[in-house]
Amino acid sequence: MDAHQEFKSVCDILSVSRQVTVLTGAGISAESGIPTFRGKEGLWKKYRAEELATPTAFIEDPKLVWEWYDWRRGIIGAKKPNPGHDVLAAWEGLFPHFALITQNIDGLHQNAGSKNVIELHGNIWKQRCIEEQTINENHDIPLREIPPHCPLCGALLRPHVVWFGESLDGSVLQRSFLLSSNCDVMLVVGTSAVVQPAASLPLSAAEAGAKIIEINPDPTPLTAHADFSFRAKSGELLPFLDAELRKQLQKRE
Ligand code: APR
Repeated sequence: MDAHQEFKSVCDILSVSRQVTVLTGAGISAESGIPTFRGKEGLWKKYRAEELATPTAFIEDPKLVWEWYDWRRGIIGAKKPNPGHDVLAAWEGLFPHFALITQNIDGLHQNAGSKNVIELHGNIWKQRCIEEQTINENHDIPLREIPPHCPLCGALLRPHVVWFGESLDGSVLQRSFLLSSNCDVMLVVGTSAVVQPAASLPLSAAEAGAKIIEINPDPTPLTAHADFSFRAKSGELLPFLDAELRKQLQKRE
């Protein structure tokens, strides 16, 4: 099947789907100017994750960790969602059931208008008290205090994100597996598909019989398991897919 036929088949499949689940990674925000983690200019090429994104690193040097997150907030805060985010926000109302699961902590899906975003790895605009576990939202750029402290009890605040070596929130994970193993189609957009447990979601969807559609300029370990895998940028391909899909849905009316 050539790329055009594959594209048409994907539109056919989507146009009759009732439950569509999407998993996104850093790649969907790349065209907004936010560095990915493992790409050529990726964050983990420049910075040592073990010094900045682990509970041990935070205990050893909370100021260093917060300086890094303050820097990242400064970058992300200046960026806008791109057409890839916009299409997924619009799809929330296009399918009978639609779920958006993201590994991203940048909040760009919500800025694009997505209402029901499942954040697997937390959110960089949220902070958590290490004593009371209370969570608050803070969009100050730069942060007024580094490291910041809990306004209620004065204890240290930490970024409300999942660090390496930490478990994901159990209810978030359970819901994500449920939405993956009960969908007709799973779109996997902009992830290297190497970080667990997120990388297992598409495999559980495939096992349950869902069609897997991958969008990534580069192949990943998921490519061999995908029914369709497009070597493309999501901010370019998703608007095309959306336009073609809407034409097909109109024809059916
Ligand atoms: N459109 C689609 N995909 C893209 C684009 C684009 N414009 N640009 C890059 N990509 C792809 C890359 O080819 C790569 O496969 O996005 C992927 C990004 O992979 P990673 O940088 O590994 O990011 P991600 O998969 O989201 O990382 C998972 O690892 O570091 C942790 O917690 C962090 O959530 C993150 C997790």
